Amino acid sequence: MKTFASEIAKIRESFLQDLQEAIRSKDVEEIRIKYLGKKGSLSSLMKLLKDAKEEERPLFGKLVNDLKEEITSHIENSLKRLSLGEQSQKFSREKIDVTLPGRRAFVGNLHPVTMMIEELIGIFSSMGFSVQFGPDLESDFYNFEALNFSKDHPARDMQDSFYVSPNMLLRTQTSNVQVRVMESYPPPIRIVAPGRCFRNENVSARSHVLFHQIEALYIDKGVTFADLMATLEEFLAKFFKKGVKVRFRPSYFPFVEPGMEVDVRCTQCSGQGCRLCKYSGWLEILGAGMVHPNVMRAGGVDPEIFTGFAWGLGIERMALLHYEIPDIRFLTENDMRFLEQFKEEG
Ligand code: PHE
Repeated sequence: MKTFASEIAKIRESFLQDLQEAIRSKDVEEIRIKYLGKKGSLSSLMKLLKDAKEEERPLFGKLVNDLKEEITSHIENSLKRLSLGEQSQKFSREKIDVTLPGRRAFVGNLHPVTMMIEELIGIFSSMGFSVQFGPDLESDFYNFEALNFSKDHPARDMQDSFYVSPNMLLRTQTSNVQVRVMESYPPPIRIVAPGRCFRNENVSARSHVLFHQIEALYIDKGVTFADLMATLEEFLAKFFKKGVKVRFRPSYFPFVEPGMEVDVRCTQCSGQGCRLCKYSGWLEILGAGMVHPNVMRAGGVDPEIFTGFAWGLGIERMALLHYEIPDIRFLTENDMRFLEQFKEEG
């Protein structure tokens, strides 16, 4: 009994001594392990307890427990005290610099082609056109046959195409929407239809196998070529606010009669001639014309009662001119250094 009690007193004394010398909370942690840990002083006391006489055990047990409680509460108090002090020291050492600029979250921006489509839709809706969409994967009928291209029509060659089966292809033009719309709505029809087009082209500064067009179709009683010219001129004036030189050229498309093409003075070289405009000084931006009676018939519209005009505008070409981009390939390369230049400020 005596040895056990004096053992307890010894441990208690040495603990209090250790604790007095502790300066940092880390020291107190070490003391906790030394006395209360698995291999600590109290554990070894428990081993002594096993050897004690039966009748002395309850008392011994109580003494050990009392000591354990005392040690625990001392440790908790010192930890609280020390860590509070350490924290306030840390705070006074670490000054927070509120003038440091924050980290900006990454914000993306619209692709220049998307911005162009939105701008064009904005202009055409202000002129009374609504928006329609057609499929990218199209039947030979809507892409060619209904547009007055018979199976062996030589004009098909100009739109060398990606066929997925003898009857289905990736559409070569948004004109595929024309007959689809005529089938769905009675005239008057006044729509634009933006979308992707595909042609088996040689890729160059101004042509790509994937590009976008926006189609316009206007059908009503008494629509004339003068209406087409006036609408186009109005649109071009709204789009090219600075005013650019445009040129109207007679041209041929099987689905219009008469047909024409519109060129814009190349903004890249101001007409001097460059790679982008194939050294001609002009860039073709759209094809247009009066809707051919055969196309009207294919769409179930009586060409004796109604007339109309249509055009198909190359969106990439517009983007090249508008943003002064020297090469169409930049638009599909996904190079952030290029794309980020179209971020709007703010
Ligand atoms: N679809 C023609 C093309 O892609 C353009 C066009 C549309 C011409 C409508 C006339 C009328 O070249």
